[in-house]
Amino acid sequence: MASISNAFSLSLPSNRIANSSSDFNPITSALSGLDSGEFSPGRVAVSKPSGIGGRICANATPVMDQPVGEKSSGAPTIVEVDLGNRSYPIYIGSGLFDQPELLQNFDRHVHGKKVIVVTNTTIAPLYLDKVVEALTKGNTAVSVEYVILPDGEKFKDMDTLMKVFDKAIESRLDRRCTFVALGGGVIGDMCGFAAASFLVNFIQIPTTVMAQVDSSVGGKTGINHPLGKNLIGAFYQPQCVLIDTDTLDTLPDRELASGLAEVIKYGLIRDAEFFQWQEKNMEKLIARNPNALAYAIKRSCENKAEVVSFDEKESGLRATLNLGHTFGHAIETGFGYGQWLHGEAVAAGMVMAVDMSYRLGWIDSSIVKRVDDILLRAKLPTAPPETMTVEMFKSVMAVDKKVADGLLRLILLKGPLGNCVFTGEYDRKALDDTLSAFCKS
Ligand SMILES: NC(=O)c1ccc[n+]([C@@H]2O[C@H](COP(=O)([O-])OP(=O)(O)OC[C@H]3O[C@@H](n4cnc5c(N)ncnc54)[C@H](O)[C@@H]3O)[C@@H](O)[C@H]2O)c1
Ligand SMILES: [Zn+2]
Repeated sequence: MASISNAFSLSLPSNRIANSSSDFNPITSALSGLDSGEFSPGRVAVSKPSGIGGRICANATPVMDQPVGEKSSGAPTIVEVDLGNRSYPIYIGSGLFDQPELLQNFDRHVHGKKVIVVTNTTIAPLYLDKVVEALTKGNTAVSVEYVILPDGEKFKDMDTLMKVFDKAIESRLDRRCTFVALGGGVIGDMCGFAAASFLVNFIQIPTTVMAQVDSSVGGKTGINHPLGKNLIGAFYQPQCVLIDTDTLDTLPDRELASGLAEVIKYGLIRDAEFFQWQEKNMEKLIARNPNALAYAIKRSCENKAEVVSFDEKESGLRATLNLGHTFGHAIETGFGYGQWLHGEAVAAGMVMAVDMSYRLGWIDSSIVKRVDDILLRAKLPTAPPETMTVEMFKSVMAVDKKVADGLLRLILLKGPLGNCVFTGEYDRKALDDTLSAFCKS
C-alpha cells in the first residue's frame, strides 16, 4: 500500500460508514490540520470525528425498482444535513409548492414576519407567484417582498448583490426576517451570501439540476471577482432546502446537462455504485424521466450532505467535491463568465483531471474511457474550448483557492472507480503534459 504524505484519500461506498476506531480516519487527520493520509483502494475509510453525528435519512431505492415515467406527488423524501444545531432538511419531491406546510414550518424555517424572495427575471414569471402563495396561504401574518435580479453568471457580483441589500434596507427588514433564494446556483449563492452578511436566516428553493444536486446544499455562498470565480464568500447554512422537482420541466436542455456534470462527479469521487447506475440510466436522465431525476437528485444530496456533515468548512474532505473545478474555473474565468455553463466547464475539467490521474499512473485506462463515454452521453464537453491556452489555465489556476504556500493542490482520481485524493504531491510534468495535450498553444 503506497503511502502519500500531504494528501488524503477517500473511498466511501454510499450507505456505508465505517466507524471502527482501527480504521484510518482521513477526516480527523484533516480536521486536526495534519492533512495527511494513506491510500486504501476499495476500503471504507471514513469515520466521523466524535461528537458529531453522521446520519443520512433517505432510502436509496434504485430507480430500476420504481415505476418509470410517472410523477409521484405526495410526501417529500427528506435528506437531513447533519450539522448539530445547524442541521436542516432537504425536501425532495414533485408538487411541493402545493404543500405550504413545508415552507410554513415557521418555528423552524421562516423566522420573523417578513420574507424577501430573491430571484431573477427568468424565474420570477415562472415560479414567484407559486412560492409567494406557498409562503402565505392561510397565513396573513407574514408579508413577502421580492427582488428580481438580472439573470446570468456575469451578474454574480458586488453590484447585483447590493440590490438585495437596497431592497432589504428600503423595506426596513430587520434581523428577524428570512431571505428565500428562488432560482439556480447563481441566485442561491448570492442570496445566501446576502443573508450571511445581513445576518438573517435563509431558505433555498433551487430550480436547476445544478442547484438541486449541489449548490443549494452545504452552505457555501458567495460571488465572483473579475480575477476569479467565487473568490468572495461565506459558509452559511440555510434553514431548509425545498426541491420541487416539477421546476425542472421548464429548464433548458443545456442547463439540465450542466447539472448532470455534478451528478457524475459524485460517482467518480466517492460512489462507484451510483456511477454504475448512471451508466445504466443516462438516457433516462437526459429524457427527464421524473423517477430517474428524483433518484439522481436524492442520491446526490445524500452524498453532498454526508461530505458536508464530515467537513463543513472544507478542511480537506469537502475539497474533493471540486473534482475538475480547478481546470473548470480556469475555463469559466479565462473564457468569460457565462460563455460556458458551470457544469460544462466542470465536465471538461473532470476529463483533464482524469487524464492527469492516468498520466500519473493512478488509474487505469478503462476509467478514462468510462468518464469520456458518460459525459458524451450526458451531452457534455470532453475538452476545453479551443481558444484556451496553457498560459490562460496557468494564470487562473495560480489564484485558485486550493493553492497553499504556492502549491496547487488538485483533486485527482486514484485507484478503483470511486476513489480520489486531494493532494499537492504529484509530478508537475503530468500537469504540464495534460495542459499541453488539451491546448493548441
Ligand atoms: N455553492 C456551491 O456549493 C456551488 C456548487 C455548484 C455550483 N455553484 C454555483 O452555481 C452557479 C451555477 O448554477 P446554475 O447552473 O444553476 O446556473 P444559474 O443559476 O445561472 O441558472 C441557469 C439558468 O437557468 C435559468 N433557470 C433556473 N431555473 C430555471 C427553471 N426551473 N426553468 C427555466 N429556467 C431556469 C436561470 O435563470 C439561468 O438562466 C455557478 O455560479 C456556480 O459557481 C455553487
Ligand atoms: Zn460545481
